[in-house]
Amino acid sequence: MEDPKYMVAVVGAGPAGLYAARKLAEGGARVVLFNRDVTPGGLAEYGIYPDKFKMKLGLRAQFKQILDLPLIDYYGNVTVCCGGNIVLEDLLESGFQAVLITTGAQGTKWLRLPGENLPGVYHAKNIVFHYNLLPPFSEKKYLLGKRVAVVGAGNVMLDIAHYLIRDRKVEEVITVVRRGPAEVKFTRKEMEIVGGNLDLAAFEGEFARVAPIMRSAGQDPAVSKAAFLDALPKALEPVSSTRFRFEFLASPVRIMGDWMNGVSALKVEENILISADGIVKARGTGNTRQIEADTIIFAVGDTVDRDFCVPVFNDAYVSVPQPHFPVEGVSFEAFNPDANQPIERVFLAGWARQASTGLVGVARRDGERAAEAVLQFLHSQGPIRDLDNVVEKFEQRLVETHERVVDKAHLEKLSKAEAAEAQKLGLEDFKFATNDEMFTAMGY
Ligand SMILES: Cc1cc2nc3c(=O)[nH]c(=O)nc-3n(C[C@H](O)[C@H](O)[C@H](O)COP(=O)(O)OP(=O)(O)OC[C@H]3O[C@@H](n4cnc5c(N)ncnc54)[C@H](O)[C@@H]3O)c2cc1C
Ligand SMILES: NC(=O)c1ccc[n+]([C@@H]2O[C@H](COP(=O)([O-])OP(=O)(O)OC[C@H]3O[C@@H](n4cnc5c(N)ncnc54)[C@H](OP(=O)(O)O)[C@@H]3O)[C@@H](O)[C@H]2O)c1
Repeated sequence: MEDPKYMVAVVGAGPAGLYAARKLAEGGARVVLFNRDVTPGGLAEYGIYPDKFKMKLGLRAQFKQILDLPLIDYYGNVTVCCGGNIVLEDLLESGFQAVLITTGAQGTKWLRLPGENLPGVYHAKNIVFHYNLLPPFSEKKYLLGKRVAVVGAGNVMLDIAHYLIRDRKVEEVITVVRRGPAEVKFTRKEMEIVGGNLDLAAFEGEFARVAPIMRSAGQDPAVSKAAFLDALPKALEPVSSTRFRFEFLASPVRIMGDWMNGVSALKVEENILISADGIVKARGTGNTRQIEADTIIFAVGDTVDRDFCVPVFNDAYVSVPQPHFPVEGVSFEAFNPDANQPIERVFLAGWARQASTGLVGVARRDGERAAEAVLQFLHSQGPIRDLDNVVEKFEQRLVETHERVVDKAHLEKLSKAEAAEAQKLGLEDFKFATNDEMFTAMGY
């Protein structure tokens, strides 16, 4: 690669940030990646189900190749946020010509229901981080009961069902879906993992209950039923007697229970389906009922972190409606709607731009396109002067203001220590579950 001409900060080293960093480096930029987690990868490391080992290994290898590029620096265990040691303005004032935010959708989407704070109510993200060994979630106890209601019908719901049915072996998992069987968002492949536990009698009964409502919205219940049942011939052999069932057309309105005994039920409002302009929406009927459960897990998508102090709309940071540097018609430029002004030199990509949308490949593509937008902007500005001096000064400040900053050499030591541990224990993969263990392995 040629000598760098530009300097860019990328905040967040998930798939969007990492693939963007590579594209920026290829375009002649020196890139400094800041990551809240110690290790890179974001949800590719700490979201994807642990048993998708080959996929994780492949992604880790690609991320390592990116981080091995000499034009890319990595600083893990560094959170950029308002009120923190490094704020967005620090990056802009320190000489970075542009900042690309790729912090994902790592905030919690609260539905603001009464009872949401009761013990036994969780958000899927925290459980996912727990079983994927992300500190500090890995160190917390999540008390799961016998009867767990999971709200939502996406692939995250199925990951949670996977954990509850095959790892935790709870008695019952009830998936609560606000629309109907035709609107579920999960994929057949993922359904194959837990389909063997589907309570077929309950499934038939629930279909019979919702079929008239589906028909009134112009849907054919038999078609939707096949989409569920198609997963069964290839379903994994059950390893537990967990009963897995669905409750459709039900929107949560309250969590029943008390602080002493925790959750006792999920109160839901029954819905009908309204179809307009090709979109099928749920409309409440006013009738409510209770679904007995001792644990409730919300798998309803996530939202961006409010701590970043960039305006949020629809769970994502807001982008400029009429961008100066569009790529394939998409805006990657950050916007302040209150001031009706772009946030100069700040760009967005991945789940930070579109929360909870798509697979790793989508985040990768988004990061790469955002990098193209940033490069267009940099070309309009011209090369930076005194680049090495700017980098040196910033690195010095980072080490002075932060304890235990993790760089590429530390990551190398950690990866060797984890590989040695895996070999010693005869495991395919091994991850330290606490920051202290990781820091010790890195020689801190
Ligand atoms: C439970 C779950 C399972 C999934 N399983 C699959 C799957 O099997 N296959 C698949 O293809 N896709 C899967 N996905 C989707 C995939 O993980 C995402 O598409 C992708 O990770 C999004 O990438 P991102 O870079 O935008 O955000 P993220 O992956 O969320 O990365 C964000 C990064 O930013 C860092 N960060 C956050 N805040 C800050 C801050 N303030 N300062 C500095 N750094 C910060 C975080 O530490 C993290 O490293 C799954 C998603 C979830 C939620
Ligand atoms: N194995 C995999 O490949 C894998 C695993 C996990 C995640 N992912 C990907 O990651 C992305 C995010 O997945 P996700 O499951 O979080 O999101 P998702 O696919 O958008 O599903 C979210 C679910 O929550 C429901 N929901 C949202 N708000 C609700 C509310 N207020 N009340 C009740 N229900 C509500 C949605 O219902 P409506 O449809 O009615 O809005 C939907 O069923 C997806 O692209 C997914 O494919 C992939």
